[in-house]
Amino acid sequence: MKKSYTLTLNELDTLAEDIIRNFPSGVVILRGDLAAGKTTLVKHIAKKLGVTEDVTSPTFSLQQCYGEKLFHYDIYNHGLEHFLSLGMLEELEKEGLHFIEWGDDTLKELLLLAGMEVMEITIKKTDANTREYTLCTH
Ligand SMILES: Nc1ncnc2c1ncn2[C@@H]1O[C@H](COP(=O)(O)OP(=O)(O)O)[C@@H](O)[C@H]1O
Ligand SMILES: [Mg+2]
Repeated sequence: MKKSYTLTLNELDTLAEDIIRNFPSGVVILRGDLAAGKTTLVKHIAKKLGVTEDVTSPTFSLQQCYGEKLFHYDIYNHGLEHFLSLGMLEELEKEGLHFIEWGDDTLKELLLLAGMEVMEITIKKTDANTREYTLCTH
């Protein structure tokens, strides 16, 4: 499955609902440059799931958990090998939605080999007020 949407900030709740409904559990790899809107999408998911904690870029922490069913990771500062060496693959198998900022093809292939549900969302800045979201499930 592959679909694309161009959305403003106000339209992100609809995408968040769509993701929660169609992909309630598994790993979502978030791709896109700095300031593309990766963390913002997780914020909207958190809001829809009723999470009250503040959602921020997990730049320094390896994993942030919001409630029992939402997990947030950032590979950029750690590197994939470090991330895996700390046992994160096991964390990703927990029931719930796992959002990974800066995941790449190597991670995707690894997760698919491990039999996990994987969605890839690529975010591109289209102009100051919109972003293009391309969703791809494997
Ligand atoms: N769909 C969107 N439309 C317009 N602006 C957006 C959208 N999504 C995010 N932004 C804005 O882009 C900026 C960077 O977002 P952020 O989520 O922090 O990026 P990233 O985590 O990819 O570095 C923020 O100011 C945010 O409000
Ligand atoms: Mg971020």
